[in-house]
Amino acid sequence: MSRIVVVSNRVPAPAGNAGQAGGLAVALLGLMRRRGGLWFGWSGAVSQATEPSFTQRGAVGYATLDLSEAEHRGFYTGYANGVLWPSLHGLSHLMHFRRPDLESYRQVNRRFADRLVPLLKPEDLIWIHDYHLLPLPGALRERGVGLPTGFFLHVPFPAPEAASVAPGIRGLLTDMMAADLLGFQTTADRDNFAASAAAFTPARRHDDNHLTLGGRQVRLGVFAAEISARDFAATAATQAQAEPARLLARSLPGQALLLGVDRLDPTKGIPERLEAFGRVLARRPGRDLAFLQIAAPSREDVAAYRDLRQELDTAGGALNSEFGEPDWTPLRLVARPQARDTVAGFMRLARVGLVTPLRDGMNLVAKEYVAAQDPANPGVLVLSRFAGAAAQLSDALLVNPHDVEAMAEAMVQALDMPLAERQARWHACWAAIAGASPEGWGEAFLRALSPQALDAIPAAGRA
Ligand code: G6P
Repeated sequence: MSRIVVVSNRVPAPAGNAGQAGGLAVALLGLMRRRGGLWFGWSGAVSQATEPSFTQRGAVGYATLDLSEAEHRGFYTGYANGVLWPSLHGLSHLMHFRRPDLESYRQVNRRFADRLVPLLKPEDLIWIHDYHLLPLPGALRERGVGLPTGFFLHVPFPAPEAASVAPGIRGLLTDMMAADLLGFQTTADRDNFAASAAAFTPARRHDDNHLTLGGRQVRLGVFAAEISARDFAATAATQAQAEPARLLARSLPGQALLLGVDRLDPTKGIPERLEAFGRVLARRPGRDLAFLQIAAPSREDVAAYRDLRQELDTAGGALNSEFGEPDWTPLRLVARPQARDTVAGFMRLARVGLVTPLRDGMNLVAKEYVAAQDPANPGVLVLSRFAGAAAQLSDALLVNPHDVEAMAEAMVQALDMPLAERQARWHACWAAIAGASPEGWGEAFLRALSPQALDAIPAAGRA
């Protein structure tokens, strides 16, 4: 069986407890432990060191590079998170482009390629992840790497006009198409990518899942990211009895809990959510509600994230001063990360789960909220239509996060929903996620990338 070489900007700490890592890291780690693999990417550290560090844990090797201060500023903060992240999420007004950042972004990808090439073996499958590494497939081919190479985009891909606002994107599309397989979260993302490729490069689309560029065939595929729903459900049931959830429950006498769990990120629609909650409070006098918003600080070097923190602190304070009572505050805003297991217990307590991003690739929190519910007495998920998860969780209460009034109505509908309807909606959502697993997601991608699957492409389409 081929060795998997995963390349991602973030690499899980080799000694880390998988239970504390993000869902994706757990999924990929499971796969790699079974098959044996190499994980290559940024160490998370900033230093002048230029050589990779190696660690071996069982069948998985980790090779990581530090970024220099200039690289961190240009590649990570500047272009990846200051240009690509907002523009791929359709929030181009938050974009801040400086040409040296694009050059830094390309240079770091070339450096990744230079360091990765000597580590590759003839049987490897290469799997590259996310928007930090769009040029890497091209950089590897330029260095003569002919191994099967897949790329998965975790974030959305917008329509061509919206994509084209990111300076440099045209060249990046060509670099991406040096991969054999490009994976997306939803069919809309795949189709938007294909439309952009056809509009801005000489690529031609042949059918849903095939493009050609310069005589080479590139496959496209849709692979919705998944969670281990049954494991998460078991964790939630246990954690609902643990100390943090018991303390939270005790602090909610006669109150229904609404819960939001996000990185503190402009794409997550948190200010709009707070405003909608304010409208709910305005029309439901009484103190029978509490909204807990967990917002883990993120990318604090990017101005838009710092501005958002201030905006939330101000809006949250205003909400509590307007509606709060001496012995009751409606909003609890916690801007610190919480352990994933603890959050699972909180989710099980919450009558309403609020997942209302302005745009999101998938949003695994939506799936986790469904998995965490007690089937006998489930809560209601209020979900943005613009999260990738909405394609699968169509029985949630779907909302447009820009329509604050409609969100407030959905919150009220969720709070007042009769048990039978809550159960029916929950069952439909559960059925959409219960059989899936992150391992299944990864295996499906790797099957599509295997030499046998690639060889099944008509010979005329291959280079
Ligand atoms: C999103 C991206 C990931 C990224 C994560 C955390 O989920 O798709 O690629 O790693 O956010 O962001 P950070 O900037 O801390 O890596």
